[in-house]
Amino acid sequence: MSNEQQTRVYHPSAEVVKNAAVSGIDAYNALVKEAEQDYEGYWARQARELVDWKVPFTQVLDESNAPFFKWFADGKLNVSYNCLDRNIEKGLGDKVAIIFEADDGHITRVTYKELLAKVSKFANALRSLGVKKGDRVVIYLPMSIEGVVAMQACARIGATHSVVFGGFSAHALRDRINDAGAVTLITADGQFRGGKALPLKPIADEALALGGCETIRNVIVVKRTGGDASFVAGRDLWYHEVVANQPETSEPEWVEAEHPLFLLYTSGSTGKPKGVQHSTGGYLLHAILTMQYTFDIKPDDVFWCTADIGWVTGHTYITYGPLATGSTEIVFEGVPTYPDAGRFWKMIQDHKVTVFYTAPTAIRSLIKAADANPAAHPKNYDLTSLRLLGSVGEPINPAAWEWYYENVGGSRCPIVDTFWQTETGGHMITPLPGATPLVPGSCTLPFPGIQAAVVDETGTEVPNGQGGILVVQRPWPSMIRTIWGDPERFRKSYYPDDFKGKLYLAGDGAIRDKDTGYFTITGRIDDVLNVSGHRMGTMEIESALVAHEKVAEAAVVGRPDDLTGEAIVAFVVLKGARPTGEAAAAVVKELQNWVGHEIGPIAKPKDIRFGENLPKTRSGKIMRRLLRQLAKGEEITQDTSTLENPAILDQLKHSV
Ligand code: WTA
Repeated sequence: MSNEQQTRVYHPSAEVVKNAAVSGIDAYNALVKEAEQDYEGYWARQARELVDWKVPFTQVLDESNAPFFKWFADGKLNVSYNCLDRNIEKGLGDKVAIIFEADDGHITRVTYKELLAKVSKFANALRSLGVKKGDRVVIYLPMSIEGVVAMQACARIGATHSVVFGGFSAHALRDRINDAGAVTLITADGQFRGGKALPLKPIADEALALGGCETIRNVIVVKRTGGDASFVAGRDLWYHEVVANQPETSEPEWVEAEHPLFLLYTSGSTGKPKGVQHSTGGYLLHAILTMQYTFDIKPDDVFWCTADIGWVTGHTYITYGPLATGSTEIVFEGVPTYPDAGRFWKMIQDHKVTVFYTAPTAIRSLIKAADANPAAHPKNYDLTSLRLLGSVGEPINPAAWEWYYENVGGSRCPIVDTFWQTETGGHMITPLPGATPLVPGSCTLPFPGIQAAVVDETGTEVPNGQGGILVVQRPWPSMIRTIWGDPERFRKSYYPDDFKGKLYLAGDGAIRDKDTGYFTITGRIDDVLNVSGHRMGTMEIESALVAHEKVAEAAVVGRPDDLTGEAIVAFVVLKGARPTGEAAAAVVKELQNWVGHEIGPIAKPKDIRFGENLPKTRSGKIMRRLLRQLAKGEEITQDTSTLENPAILDQLKHSV
C-alpha cells in the first residue's frame, strides 16, 4: 500500500467478517485460486449450487466459436421459476418480495406468492396475444410493480425483453423497437415523478407514428396517472383488462441456457445504440452470485437498489438478483429530492433498509442538498438498520465516499464500489464486504472468477502503478453474447484485433496500485460520456444536433462536472451567421430542447458554443483533444499551426 493510501484504508469490523459469505481476505483468495486452478470447474460448481436447472448442463464453457462464447449450453432452465416458484417451494411464499413506494409515499407490499400470481397472469395474457419464445417485447414503463412483473413474465414465456428507460424520447424508443423487431410494446398512460404526472403513452404513440415499428402488434397500457391515452382499436389494450380473467398459474417455458433473456440498448462510439444481448443461465448465475458475495445478502435483509429498471443495474439488482435470492426489496417510483432531499434517508428509516445501493451522482447531489437545507441531512434520520452500502455507475470521488461512509453508514457499514457495465451483466471489480479492506475511490479487486488486467495498446500487461487499458482475460458466464443483429460490431467493439481477439475490451482506462494491485477506474477511453451515471455516446448527440435544420456541423465532448461527473459540451456550426448575445442564447435553448426531444432530457448539452467552423487537422479530422481543452477552459497546449482559421478558437472558448 502506498503511503498516501495507507492513512485511508478501512478494514471490515470483526463482526462484519464473521457473518460474511466470503469471510476474510483468505477466503477471497481461496476462491480466486479455485477459479485459477480450474476455471470451468469453479463456475460449474457455482452454477450447480445456485441455479435450479430443469435439464442439468454437462458442458461448461464452449470457446469453439470465440468470441461468441457459450456457457452451460446444454442445460435448460427458466429465470422466472428461479426467482419465484422455487422460493415458494422453499417456504417463502408469504415473505414480502417487493415493497413498492410510490412517488406520493403510498406503499404496496407484494409477497412471493402474490408476485408469482401476477407474473403468471401477465405471462398468460402475453401468450394469449400470441407472444412466444424468442419474440422481442419492448417495455417502456415507469418504476412500478408492473415493470418488474412485465420483465418476469417475458422471462417466464421465453420472450426476450428490451426495456427502454422512461426518460427516452419518441425517437429513441422508435429506434429501439425498430432494431429489436419487437411484437409487443408495454407502456403506461403516464408516470409520477416529483409530484408531477408525466405522459408516456403519448410518447409511445409518437414513436409508433414515426414509422419503422410495423412489427408491433399490440400495445399494452398500464393505467397509472389517469392521463390522456387515446387507443388504436385492435392494437392497444389496457393491462388490467388483459390480465383480468387469466389463471394465476402458468407453466414456465424451459429454455436453453444461451437463450436471450434480454436486450438492453446502450451507447457506444457510433451514433447507433447497441442492443446488448444477454443469456439466461450465465446471467442468472452472476446475478445470484454477486447478491451473495458482494451484497452478502441474508434472509432478513431489506435490499434497496435505487436504479431504474431502464438501466442494467435495475435489471440485475432489482428484477433478477434480489428475487432469485428470495430477498425483500424496495422498488421506488419517485425521485430523491421529492418532497425534499431527505426522501432516501426517510425511506431507509421507514422500511429499515439494511443494504443500500445507489450512484455517486445521487450522493453528490444529496450532499449539496444537505448543505443547503440542514433538515435534509441524513443525521436527522435513524439509519441504524443499514449494514452495507454500495456505489455504482461512475467513479466515486473520495470526498463523496467519505461523506457516504460517515453520514449514511455511521462509519459502520462497508461501501462496495462496484465496477461493471451493461455488457458484463453483473459486478466485475468490487470489494467483498467481509473480505476486502476498502480504499475510497478504488473498486479494489476482481470478483472471484473474473480475470481483469490493465494492458497497453499491444495487449501486454503494464506494471502496477502505470495506467492503461482495462481488459478481461477470460470469458465469464454473464458476459454480453453479441450485439443484436450486428455480430461483427460485437467482435470489433469488444474483442478487437489489436488484442488478437483474445481480450475483452471494457472501454475504460484503469490503474492498479503499486502495492495492493487495487484497481482504480480512470474513465472511458472511447467516445462515451458518463453523465450522472448514464452512458451517452458523443456521436449520438452529434447526430441529433445535425438533424436540426439550423445546424451545419457539431462536435460533442465531455468536461468534468462536480455534480454529474461529466457534463456535455457541444461545439456547433450553424448554417447561417454565427449568433451572438441574446440571439445565441435563444438558439442554445432551442438546440437543448431539440436534443431532449430527439434522445431524452439526459442527453441535453449543458453548454453549447458557436463557431464559424470547428478546429480540424489538414485531413479534415476534428481535433477533439483541443475541444476538450476548450470545454474545460484550459490553455491550449496542442500545436494549432495546422488550423485554417485560428480565430475560431477564440469564438469557441466561451460559453454563450
Ligand atoms: C462506468 C453501469 C468507475 C464505467 C453498471 C463503465 C464505473 C460504465 C463504475 C458502464 C465504478 C460503472 N467506478 N466507473 N464503480 N461503475 N462505471 O453500462 O465507465 O451504464 O464502463 O453500466 O460506467 O455503464 P453502464
